[in-house]
Amino acid sequence: MSKNLSVWDKAKREGRKMTMVTAYDFGAARMAEAAGLDAVLIGDSLGMVVQGEADTLPVRLEEIEYHTRIVARGVSKLLVMADLPFGSFEAGPAQAFAAAARLLKAGAHIVKLEGGGPMVETVTFLSQRAIPVCAHIGLTPQHVRQIGGFKRQGKTPEAAARLLEDALALQDAGARILLMEAIPSDLAAEVTARLSIPTIGIGAGPATDGQVLVFHDVLGLSPDRAPSFSKKYMEGFTLMTTALGDYAREVREGAFPSP
Ligand code: KIV
Repeated sequence: MSKNLSVWDKAKREGRKMTMVTAYDFGAARMAEAAGLDAVLIGDSLGMVVQGEADTLPVRLEEIEYHTRIVARGVSKLLVMADLPFGSFEAGPAQAFAAAARLLKAGAHIVKLEGGGPMVETVTFLSQRAIPVCAHIGLTPQHVRQIGGFKRQGKTPEAAARLLEDALALQDAGARILLMEAIPSDLAAEVTARLSIPTIGIGAGPATDGQVLVFHDVLGLSPDRAPSFSKKYMEGFTLMTTALGDYAREVREGAFPSP
């Protein structure tokens, strides 16, 4: 459990797996800390699992800023990573710096941004100006309109070579963590072995230095929307709707509240 990025580097060197889950509010953040995870991500998956949008594109910087503030209040030891949402950073390094600074002021320790090669200049700029960066490559959901869906990436030898090249360039640019989403396991293993910075995977197999999952997917809170690569550790939707139904029934039957 550490917000100190040098602990993440050490964990990679020692082969200790790092664990991260998304969190969007104070309660979820407290649960992640109580459960002994290493990090929480205020992801723009917020748009899909909290706001009910079809993808992450509508999420606004001020929304991530707000959720970062309330998540950060719920943890004292965990690394707080916040997403730069679509439209808040792509125009150039100065725009990205202004957005990232807002997220750090709200309590983030590191920002995450989607994109490979075209983001190298921005990662360099942020890294040289006191903003730790996690670069997110592979399936980058903010590009969903361009790639035509939530599709696995890095499947051809050419695409795999480009992804490895991007990973190395992002590390050289100063990225402190690399997140890889929905790529073949062997490619994620190769990238992890070639980089000195820690890698985090989601749908990228077991070889990455850490794993991240969406809170609602881990707890089975949005069963109809979870990607196939996630794992449900409880039937949250069923358990919670049953509890809510029990409450409503007891009120209707006069069993709650007691005199
Ligand atoms: O927004 C998010 O939750 C993410 C994870 C899926 C990695 O980017």
